[in-house]
Amino acid sequence: MQGFAGKVAVVTGAGSGIGQALAVELARSGASIAISDVDTDGLSVTEQRLKEIGANVKADRLDVTEREAFLLYADEVRNHFGKVNQIYNNAGIAFTGDVEVSQFKDIERVMDVDFWGVVNGTKAFLPHLIESGDGHVINVSSVFGLFSVPGQAAYNAAKFAVRGFTEALRQEMAVGGKPVKVTTVHPGGIRTAIARNASAVEGLDAEELAKVFDKRLAKTSPEEAARVIMDGVRRNKARVLIGNDARILDVLVRITGPHYARLFSGVTSKLMPSSTH
Ligand SMILES: NC(=O)c1ccc[n+]([C@@H]2O[C@H](COP(=O)([O-])OP(=O)(O)OC[C@H]3O[C@@H](n4cnc5c(N)ncnc54)[C@H](O)[C@@H]3O)[C@@H](O)[C@H]2O)c1
Repeated sequence: MQGFAGKVAVVTGAGSGIGQALAVELARSGASIAISDVDTDGLSVTEQRLKEIGANVKADRLDVTEREAFLLYADEVRNHFGKVNQIYNNAGIAFTGDVEVSQFKDIERVMDVDFWGVVNGTKAFLPHLIESGDGHVINVSSVFGLFSVPGQAAYNAAKFAVRGFTEALRQEMAVGGKPVKVTTVHPGGIRTAIARNASAVEGLDAEELAKVFDKRLAKTSPEEAARVIMDGVRRNKARVLIGNDARILDVLVRITGPHYARLFSGVTSKLMPSSTH
């Protein structure tokens, strides 16, 4: 894809799924890439693929919840490549459980990775993106950042928060005349390991939930997701929706306003079994 050659891009959660596909597609488009993940095996696979493409790659173990490490990492990446143009705050986890029976620690964990991980990455890299004169922050939310469903309160909260944070940042950069573009990404169901890696409250079978997700909901490939994200970045879109499911659900939520839950209740009760009974 055009517009990425010579750019330096950072991708978190690059050891699997959308992050891995993004790193590969960015490498094919001529970008230099800093990849990171907590899953060092997955990260090595991505690193190898990027090297085969001939990309200039820096691979590091990084937990996005570790703020101090993230700040140091941002400086390291800047010094290694001489500049940083783009950060894709992509790392994320999923959890299923009704509020009534979820533990505080489960909800906090999702917020730590899915929201604070994005805040840490954005804040750590923002000075370098501004310095580059041509920066872009790309934060991965979800369709679950557009509407809520039962059993996903923690994930919904984190993904709504990412959306609010990112949409405010976009306006701040524009108002302040800062050379940083900002994009929020809302994927629908993407065929990745997210559901298989997900946890759930006691009493719910996380493996069974993953099977339902993989079979019925994950319609878009991570490669296609990566291309849609990069096209949105190239065109400086404020919001990128991935997949027909995301586009249709977005329209339905806009049309129905606060009544969208009624529209979804039949569907969500089948897909998101309640964990309170
Ligand atoms: N797959 C979907 O259907 C879907 C839909 C909407 C949004 N998303 C979002 O897309 C993003 C990518 O997810 P994916 O579907 O590719 O899942 P994935 O599980 O395939 O990849 C996520 C990666 O993030 C890494 N990760 C998890 N916790 C981390 C941490 N604390 N620090 C660093 N890395 C960490 C994992 O090791 C994994 O490699 C996530 O933010 C997810 O919420 C996915």
